[in-house]
Amino acid sequence: MQNATLHQLRVFAAVARHNSFTRAAEELFLTQPTVSMQVKQLSRTVGLPLFEQVGKKLYLTQAGKELYEACQDIFERISRFEITVANLKGLKQGTLRIAVVTTAKYVIPRILGPFCQRYPGIDISLSVTNHQHIIDGFLTNQNDLYILSQPPEDIDVTVQPFLENPLVVLASREHPLVKEKNITLERLAQEPFIMREPGSGTRKEVQRMFESHSLALKVKLDLGSNEAIKQAVAGGLGVSVLSKHTLALDGPNSHVAILDVQNFPIQRHWYVMYPSGKQLSAIAMVFHDYLLNEGKQVAQETAFRGLLS
Ligand code: PGA
Repeated sequence: MQNATLHQLRVFAAVARHNSFTRAAEELFLTQPTVSMQVKQLSRTVGLPLFEQVGKKLYLTQAGKELYEACQDIFERISRFEITVANLKGLKQGTLRIAVVTTAKYVIPRILGPFCQRYPGIDISLSVTNHQHIIDGFLTNQNDLYILSQPPEDIDVTVQPFLENPLVVLASREHPLVKEKNITLERLAQEPFIMREPGSGTRKEVQRMFESHSLALKVKLDLGSNEAIKQAVAGGLGVSVLSKHTLALDGPNSHVAILDVQNFPIQRHWYVMYPSGKQLSAIAMVFHDYLLNEGKQVAQETAFRGLLS
């Protein structure tokens, strides 16, 4: 293994985590042939195949599984070393790794602005993904802090709320329900519905709400992006439920409107979370406290006064 490089191990671990060369390439901003080549060279160094393809699915071989475990030990050790070095350097340098759910991407970059001005030597890595991928990343220790709306109940985490994240019902501005008040859930359930993809926290919350009223939704379309859903709603394809913050940049001429529906908005919060007992880097600790103490105020001060005001 003397010839294996850290880069090859990172590429291999990304393929193993995603079970996919394509998704690993996307995550690492590499081309797929580069990813395949790195894994091939690593496999040659090991002297055994690391993956096997069965049908369309990719599986780790026994050697691959052992190597993946070793990689996790190596990365964990390096990450602890990075923390030590960052702490030795104080708050002057280092990288803060944050993963946020898609709804929070409308707010967190604005909260990060003043923070980065205060600590100009700090680099930020912000990954934006849905609820399920946040949990997956959490379980494999990919980031320093995680921001989400539904903290897991079956994992030992340190978690605190820092900002409201209400879910609202959206329809095209021309939709007949826009003029109605106090619309019932039964009435809403008759409309064609546009839903976030499986794995999304927004989707889970919407399903929970309608199931608790024994109502089935007529889901016409699943879409993996809040922006795509807004476009579909604006285009009159159906109604949807999204975080109110997704309207952050919509001005008064927005093509979507918020409907006045009973039981809405669904009141939720964003939480900042990390594994209980994890030693946070100095910078992660400072950002954590900044989020709790100043996050809400900064979010309000920097909000674009469009539809939300
Ligand atoms: P989602 O997360 O991107 O998974 O829908 C949103 C949320 O839970 O707030």
